[in-house]
Amino acid sequence: MKKIVNIPRGTQDILPKESKKWQYIENHLRKISENFCYKEIRTPIFELTELFARGVGDTTDIVQKEMYTFLDKGNRSITLRPEGTAGTVRSYIENKLFADTIKPQKLYYIGPMFRYERKQKGRYRQFFQYGVEVIGEESEKIDAEVISLAYNIYKSLGIENIKVSINTLGNPEERNEYNRALINHFKKEIHNFCEDCQNRLEKNPMRILDCKVDTKKELMKNAPKLLDFLGEESKKYFKKVLSYLDDLKIKYEVDPNLVRGLDYYTHTAFEIMIDNKDIELKTLCGGGRYNGLIKMLGGPEEEKGIGFALSIERLLLALESENIELNINDKIDIYVVSVGEEANEYSMKLTNLLRIHGFKAQNSYFDKKIKAQMKMADRYKAKFSIIIGEEEIKDKKVTVKNMENHNQESIKIENLMNYLEEKIKGE
Ligand code: HAM
Repeated sequence: MKKIVNIPRGTQDILPKESKKWQYIENHLRKISENFCYKEIRTPIFELTELFARGVGDTTDIVQKEMYTFLDKGNRSITLRPEGTAGTVRSYIENKLFADTIKPQKLYYIGPMFRYERKQKGRYRQFFQYGVEVIGEESEKIDAEVISLAYNIYKSLGIENIKVSINTLGNPEERNEYNRALINHFKKEIHNFCEDCQNRLEKNPMRILDCKVDTKKELMKNAPKLLDFLGEESKKYFKKVLSYLDDLKIKYEVDPNLVRGLDYYTHTAFEIMIDNKDIELKTLCGGGRYNGLIKMLGGPEEEKGIGFALSIERLLLALESENIELNINDKIDIYVVSVGEEANEYSMKLTNLLRIHGFKAQNSYFDKKIKAQMKMADRYKAKFSIIIGEEEIKDKKVTVKNMENHNQESIKIENLMNYLEEKIKGE
């Protein structure tokens, strides 16, 4: 036997048993999105590399270390999307969605993203993000709505142990001033910090606060706080967002060290964390406002945006560790059992007819003993089985068996669809 080719590291196969859960979650996400009046946008899985370098930020871990980038046959640098915001904003600008009569545009997406990260439970190299972006206008109400949408997703699935961590990153001028203060604060001791932090000092000092290695250092604990650098406008905006969250009864905690790993954020930034000791990566979801991004990618300056994204993988892990079972229906309606050549041939036609009538139906492909066929009906979790033998063919009848209570009835072919309609669809 030849050596098998394995799946690439950091990716997963979603097998039929699991894909039912994925479909359930995806349908749930679509339903909630529609309830909040968001519409789906589908952008390419790969984009020109420059989009992410400009959009996500040259100094971020994503752009520096994690992108799947290659030259295509036309010598263009292409990158598999590491996240959905940059592509959505690109599409918004390129397709002039800002000229639409509905403002802001409320968009959502579901699809695979790619980051070359260290594999861990909850961290993959291909993962599926659901995200939303609200682009065009700015209002504290929009920020609160976006956070409440994220919060509702978990709550509506029964995940109770969650908390919103929230911070404001101010406007670009306030951030610049804050960054200068951080450089002054860290520079004398920076040689004692990890290599990443040393690199971040000049390029992106706020990210030092996000370091997972040097968290215990004294300089980290007494670092200047961004809140002290905010002007009145930014403070007022943040306060209003928080008061809307209070109105919506959303549990949150202001975390002045929350800086997020992407460069485009301004003002509101948030993450949703799960409080469960069995989960290693507790951040289920993250997002925030990105007022400068539309301009940075060539769009109109006055356009503002906010959004968040979560991965379906982490959502499923959260459900599992909270012992929440999804209400998944993997039953079929009818399994058709047939004995004898004529009945076998007829079973194929009948199954086809049942499917056209909207029933989930399967027949036995092989002329096996009735017992073996009934066993298969059980494995398929059929609600009913239809049994056809020579006699049934002769009398133009079939036997319909309720697989739960084992009741059997003989039904004329001409009445079969109505009978099943009543029994199955009328349930
Ligand atoms: P992010 O924080 O990089 O933000 O990712 C958002 C979420 O995607 C994370 O909270 C996590 O659930 C999931 N995620 C990220 N990387 C992985 C991975 N390697 N494996 C599994 N799940 C992962 C963004 O991507 C921003 N685009 C969010 C946003 C939208 N901000 C504004 N709009």
